Amino acid sequence: MKGSILGLRATKLSFILITLVCTMFLIWGWDKTPYLVSLLPQSQSLKFTPEIFIGSPVKGIPPDSNMKDADNNRSNSAKNETSDKHEGYDEKGNREDGKNSKEKVSDASVPVGSANTSSVVTWKRKGNFSSQVNKQTCDYGKGNWVADDDRPFYSGGRCLQWLSEMWACRLTDRTDFSYEKFRWQPKDCEMEEYSGKKFLRRMRNKTLAFIGDSLGRQQFQSLMCMVSGGRVRNDVNDVGWEYGLVKARGAVRPDGWAYRFTRTNTTILFYWSACLCDLQPLHPSKRNSEVAMHLDRPPAFLKQYLDRFNVIVLNTGHHWNRGKFDGNHWVMHVGGVPTPNKSMVDAKNLTIHSIVKWVDSQLPEHPKLRAFYRSLSPRHFFNGDWNTGGSCDNTNPLSKGKEVLKEESGDLISAMAVKGTNITFLDITALSELRDEGHLSRYTIRPRQASGQDCLHWCLPGVPDTWNEILFAKLSALGRF
Ligand SMILES: *[C@@H]1O[C@H](CO)[C@@H](O)[C@H](O)[C@H]1NC(C)=O
Ligand SMILES: *[C@@H]1O[C@H](CO)[C@@H](O)[C@H](O)[C@H]1NC(C)=O
Ligand SMILES: *[C@@H]1O[C@H](CO)[C@@H](O)[C@H](O)[C@H]1NC(C)=O
Ligand SMILES: *[C@@H]1O[C@H](CO)[C@@H](O)[C@H](O)[C@H]1NC(C)=O
Ligand SMILES: *[C@@H]1O[C@H](CO)[C@@H](O)[C@H](O)[C@H]1NC(C)=O
Ligand SMILES: *[C@@H]1O[C@H](CO)[C@@H](O)[C@H](O)[C@H]1NC(C)=O
Ligand SMILES: *[C@@H]1O[C@H](CO)[C@@H](O)[C@H](O)[C@H]1NC(C)=O
Ligand SMILES: *[C@@H]1O[C@H](CO)[C@@H](O)[C@H](O)[C@H]1NC(C)=O
Ligand SMILES: *[C@@H]1O[C@H](CO)[C@@H](O)[C@H](O)[C@H]1NC(C)=O
Repeated sequence: MKGSILGLRATKLSFILITLVCTMFLIWGWDKTPYLVSLLPQSQSLKFTPEIFIGSPVKGIPPDSNMKDADNNRSNSAKNETSDKHEGYDEKGNREDGKNSKEKVSDASVPVGSANTSSVVTWKRKGNFSSQVNKQTCDYGKGNWVADDDRPFYSGGRCLQWLSEMWACRLTDRTDFSYEKFRWQPKDCEMEEYSGKKFLRRMRNKTLAFIGDSLGRQQFQSLMCMVSGGRVRNDVNDVGWEYGLVKARGAVRPDGWAYRFTRTNTTILFYWSACLCDLQPLHPSKRNSEVAMHLDRPPAFLKQYLDRFNVIVLNTGHHWNRGKFDGNHWVMHVGGVPTPNKSMVDAKNLTIHSIVKWVDSQLPEHPKLRAFYRSLSPRHFFNGDWNTGGSCDNTNPLSKGKEVLKEESGDLISAMAVKGTNITFLDITALSELRDEGHLSRYTIRPRQASGQDCLHWCLPGVPDTWNEILFAKLSALGRF
């Protein structure tokens, strides 16, 4: 009797002890890496939430395992600084215009030029940007990729405050990183060199909003890393609540994120709207209610907050397939009535034209608003699709060419939609098409369960950084606002 009571006590005591120790570790972990604990798991889990990858789409974004919540084992890879040491940033994490350009990212473990760059001319800093072709007329879409040791702008192993672990290929088992070291050189015109300082200076008191799908979110995370220099910043506040971007009770994730660089009062946000249209549950009280997808109406969020935005960057593209529609219970509506027989191509075309037209109609009332539509980010599934063994295993950059010369866009639907409007077209399709080696591919942090490769999303740092450089250059060319 006594013995058993004692035994019970001992068990209880050890339980309490274990709990205490665990709590201590948790607190310690929070202290050390609050963002890892708070931000990343959240952003991890949200990614592949039912809303996005519900069901088993026939075509579309691969529901691959590297996107599943996998955050409880980051320590070993994240800790290894030696594999990803980057110098050459000033203390604010920004490179000054050409000033530090000779200060190379001096790390032997970064396999510079390990890829086949023999056919690629290394870009030399000319320090002369006066070779004038009117910036305004420069579309930046034509040009070529050049190897540049001054890339990337931030470390994929360090920018964990903003970068989802699943997109930080430096944390995965990938060993070639030459894809990080290319720069886009537009043809016949100089693109103003990006710097975080210049960006923040120009965006003083301003708000930039990315609205779109997961590729928009990649561009958002890329910009956060570029502007912060990929360093932990204590002067950046989470201001999601100001835009209703808070996790609802029971929700897996908020609908977006908003951060403010307090020194310049610059806000950068992302709002998830995969279709760039208005979604209204048909039976709000029911679980898995069908959702009216109003192809001809802007997302409610955009309408509500447009007054607060100075720059918007819109995109859509990879959710226009039957699998995604069924998974999300989307029912197409036009003019407020269901249109069940509309083809996907027509629906997408109609939506892109509608949103562009609507935003364009808002510009006269919002003289300080600059609106961009970003073209389709290309997929690179070879020898199959995401669910039929398609792959993108190439690690040899630009093996299919490094140059874009053709006049017409690689995304004709979007190009047609923005034509004749005051929406600026951020045409990244053709230049990204050449970068099949820059996707997540098969690389994961942990051995993945048997599932397809991701030849849709990009490693970060990587190709979306270039989209932001072009965005920056175009924004600058548009002048004061
Ligand atoms: C975490 O990483 C360690 C060391 O690489 C490994 O032994 C362990 O199995 C991993 N745990 C999980 C849950 O993946
Ligand atoms: C860190 O990475 C380097 C190079 O990849 C490797 O040699 C080293 O063993 C790693 N260290 C740890 C602690 O994982
Ligand atoms: C590198 O590319 C060049 C030109 O495309 C080609 O001739 C050469 O064989 C390639 N070398 C390797 C190692 O892949
Ligand atoms: C810059 O380029 C322009 C036009 O090509 C040239 O006239 C000028 O001399 C150059 N300036 C310098 C400092 O190289
Ligand atoms: C930013 O806003 C503050 C407060 O409204 C104002 O004092 C300041 O002059 C503004 N700065 C710029 C560059 O607009
Ligand atoms: C920040 O900018 C907004 C305009 O975007 C302005 O209303 C606000 O007063 C500014 N805040 C500060 C502290 O300057
Ligand atoms: C949609 O197509 C089905 C089958 O082809 C047809 O029966 C139905 O009338 C069509 N509905 C509309 C609204 O056109
Ligand atoms: C897309 O819609 C526009 C405007 O309604 C139309 O002019 C164009 O022909 C359509 N394009 C396609 C590919 O259906
Ligand atoms: C574009 O903006 C300019 C200047 O505000 C205006 O004159 C023009 O009518 C606009 N064009 C369209 C198609 O809205």
